[in-house]
Amino acid sequence: MRISMIGCGYVGLVTGACLAEAGHQVVCTDNDPARIAALQAGQMPIYEPHLDAILAANCRENRLSFTGDAGEAVRAGDVIFICVGTPPLETGEADLSAIDNVARMIATEARSPKLVVEKSTVPARTGRQLKRALEVYRRNGGGEFRVASNPEFLREGTAVEDFLHPDRIVLGVEEEATEQQLREIYGPILEGRFRCPVHSPACPSTKAPQMVVTTINSAELIKHASNSFLALKISYANVVADLCERVGADIEEVIRAVGLDPRIGPQFLRAGLGFGGFCFPKDIQAFIRLAERAGVDFGLLKEAERVNKGRVDLFLEKVRRALWVVKDKKVGLLGLAFKPNTDDIRFAPSLEVIRRLLAEGAQVRACDPKAMERTCTIFPQIQYSHDSYEVARDADALLILTEWDEFRHLNWERIYRLMARPLVIDGRNLLEPEMMKEFGFEYDSFGRPSDSLTPALVPALTH
Ligand code: UGA
Repeated sequence: MRISMIGCGYVGLVTGACLAEAGHQVVCTDNDPARIAALQAGQMPIYEPHLDAILAANCRENRLSFTGDAGEAVRAGDVIFICVGTPPLETGEADLSAIDNVARMIATEARSPKLVVEKSTVPARTGRQLKRALEVYRRNGGGEFRVASNPEFLREGTAVEDFLHPDRIVLGVEEEATEQQLREIYGPILEGRFRCPVHSPACPSTKAPQMVVTTINSAELIKHASNSFLALKISYANVVADLCERVGADIEEVIRAVGLDPRIGPQFLRAGLGFGGFCFPKDIQAFIRLAERAGVDFGLLKEAERVNKGRVDLFLEKVRRALWVVKDKKVGLLGLAFKPNTDDIRFAPSLEVIRRLLAEGAQVRACDPKAMERTCTIFPQIQYSHDSYEVARDADALLILTEWDEFRHLNWERIYRLMARPLVIDGRNLLEPEMMKEFGFEYDSFGRPSDSLTPALVPALTH
């Protein structure tokens, strides 16, 4: 199948590369010429594990190419995937102007029938508007357009694995022919006919993915409902963690047991600094606004959002409680990315932590395996080091903001000796309190017992 990808963010690149790996002919375009030039030169504009290998292999084998000429890209494919960003507007609603621009561009550039597939996360009923825009702007001589929704469930940091080993593929379609075309595209993925860059020598046998065929409205809603539910789970775990701190329970023990119930499941119950990134914060808002417009009060989600916004406040409260005066203290940050295995800092809690520490007069140093360059463009005034031990040297506190595996495996004994005051506040519950205690650290995290730093029990619970 000949496929065009519009938008070379992580979703467009992962989708394009994996569909090329599945044997399709894929042309990708983006309205950022520098990004296209970099990709044509074989340079990766983002860090995403395994993406470089799969991109390079498929470019070499001439199944995957990049062009800055959007018209050329549109004409090259029978199926066009729209993978552009839908950032939040001031109101919290999704900004659909990029989708609108792409629709008009496709309508004027196409010369033959096309299936146009929404991959971008969009509110329900966008498909209808998309179809209308394609028809209204269609040039004489251009072919018919069909529209489908095929939401992605790709987590940054594991997106290639998620694409090649999905638990479900959702197809929102209106016609039989569209369903058949999409089934053909995903056939090799469902049948395991690709070289997997993630697993060697063979992929583990997992449950076969479900192909879910729905209306376009349902498919669009499934995406927002999925992300919002996961965000809800995280906020729930965070409130339970706060309660654990107050009553002297351990969130890790509680969640382990709660998650063993298959009706609940263990995932997305990790307490800490809360969710960030370019998906959950904006999607939860867009879903709330969509519900509002439809006359449904989604107070449940508003509360999850409120809880999440309060995580940085609680974290900084822990920092203040431990440091007493923040001004002039040397504070080292371990982790800047919104989650491990990505260089993405969009809506990362770290940004708000840095902003507030600087406002309070702290001297901030930071280390992140992949996200320092991006953070430096926002906060050039803080110090960066590739060496976690340098960040710890003479510091009054070390704050863990992202649960990179390599931070877990640092020589914590050495860090103890390097710090001016061996104080660690762990925003991701990455380390074991017992271990930190044995090394002699003052240590605090979320929802777990910690000797010196646990706040007093609420009066009602003391007797
Ligand atoms: C999320 C969804 O998981 C994907 O299915 C979806 O396709 C994607 O959004 C999207 O809409 O494009 P992503 O934002 O890359 O993926 O990352 P997640 O792994 O979902 O984590 C989101 C945030 O939640 C991170 O800040 C993470 O640290 C936080 N989180 C996650 C927790 O605080 N606790 C948890 O238990 C899990």
